[in-house]
Amino acid sequence: MLNITNLKSGYNKLEILKGINFQVQPNEIVAIIGPNGAGKSTLLKSIFNLCTISSGKLIFKDKNITKLKTHELISEGISYVPQGRQVFNNLSVKENLEMGAYTMRDKAVIQRNLTDVFTKFPILKEKQDDYAFTLSGGQQQILAIARALIQNPQLLLLDEPSLGLSPKAMKEIFKIIKKINQEGVSIIIVEQNAKQAVELAHTTYILEDGKIALKGDKDILKNKKINDIYFGGR
Ligand SMILES: Nc1ncnc2c1ncn2[C@@H]1O[C@H](COP(=O)(O)OP(=O)(O)OP(=O)(O)O)[C@@H](O)[C@H]1O
Ligand SMILES: [Mg+2]
Repeated sequence: MLNITNLKSGYNKLEILKGINFQVQPNEIVAIIGPNGAGKSTLLKSIFNLCTISSGKLIFKDKNITKLKTHELISEGISYVPQGRQVFNNLSVKENLEMGAYTMRDKAVIQRNLTDVFTKFPILKEKQDDYAFTLSGGQQQILAIARALIQNPQLLLLDEPSLGLSPKAMKEIFKIIKKINQEGVSIIIVEQNAKQAVELAHTTYILEDGKIALKGDKDILKNKKINDIYFGGR
């Protein structure tokens, strides 16, 4: 579904990703883990064209998307939830969800997707007129994910959805992600929480210093290289 070859990208002239090969199959959950600063967020931002791509090719559903703009990528079926629960604090829950639909023109489709999201996440329906800042951390993360789902994606990019959440809220978020996937959405998830991410994902990539250090399945954390990657061999 997504095939990335030899991706080099970063911020203007600063190259962070140094030749990434990366694939997502239809209906797959792919996890990206790795130390701070490895380039995990940069990889998601590159897919969503929020970075400078200096070389490489991104193919999504047989179409070359390397040069497409962010709003065009949304129309192609890719949605992105950035790191750090970025909701609009001073907008209501409903207004936040409507912001997710800003690239969509068909009002009837927007209304239908909004209804779908409210059915999926009753807490958002209940709190639709409340300011986003009044929600708990977990509820804000649900809102951020729901805002992306409004766009009806086939591929959802999630950057550290469990960051800063209580264990209970974290569990809930992972459950939600699993359910979204079971409903037919492919997912790329970046996580600090390596163990849980590996458990959730069909395939895991470990990123280190802008390169893929390791790719594997649910046994990946048993690999002897793990210590070196995370702790520099200590
Ligand atoms: N907007 C930016 N401009 C310049 N450099 C950046 C920018 N964003 C990130 N970087 C740099 O790119 C490198 C990779 O950052 P990135 O955010 O992709 O790492 P990460 O693996 O997501 O880390 P973390 O686990 O801390 O979120 C870091 O050295 C970082 O300082
Ligand atoms: Mg990051």
